[in-house]
Amino acid sequence: MVLIAPSLLASDFSKLKEEVMAIDKAGADMIHLDIMDGHFVPNLTFGASIVRAIRPYTKLPFDVHLMVQNPSEMIRPFYEAGADIITVHTESVRHLDGILSEIKNTGLKAGVALNPATNEDVLKYVLDKTDLVLVMSVNPGFGGQSFIPSSIDKIARIKKMIGNRSVLLEVDGGINPLTAAECVAAGADVLVAGTAVFKGGNYAENIKALRV
Ligand code: DX5
Ligand code: ZN
Repeated sequence: MVLIAPSLLASDFSKLKEEVMAIDKAGADMIHLDIMDGHFVPNLTFGASIVRAIRPYTKLPFDVHLMVQNPSEMIRPFYEAGADIITVHTESVRHLDGILSEIKNTGLKAGVALNPATNEDVLKYVLDKTDLVLVMSVNPGFGGQSFIPSSIDKIARIKKMIGNRSVLLEVDGGINPLTAAECVAAGADVLVAGTAVFKGGNYAENIKALRV
């Protein structure tokens, strides 16, 4: 069954503790944390101290998505804050293989994120040290954007590249019950959803609607 990773970006930041507990209770499989530095993407969210503050309120894995210019500097702080998976954007790093090793050497799972216009060929040489591939199906920076349709073929191509390796294929951006079904059919294992989970307030219903 597909895993659902609600993105806290769409939650109410004035009550993060309650939001984390609520999505845990609603059946989320992991918690997606969008870290933006105002440089790699125009938006700014939160850092390791906030992640550390919410860590005691759930046992779900913390899936940290680094949309930052210098991810290398952030591995240690997010490890110490309680991250389980750290995903870096290939567009932000000069030495992708090296940073994946750095993440894995801390004992965490390592992910590679690809922007919508980034060719997936970059994965070819690092798949053996990658635990998760994150396909951005919107341009990173903001929640609530529309799903970019070409992501579907990209998911299918990456699924083929992964083959029988135990690498999770995650899709992030514009996920709703319709796009969720298409992503799963193309081979996605994990769906990140912000708006679709937090809208309305019935998180359990919203999560259920994404499981196809
Ligand atoms: C965008 C973030 C996403 C975002 C998804 O830069 O990486 O995780 O929160 O939001 P929705 O589900 O609203 O598209
Ligand atoms: Zn994200």
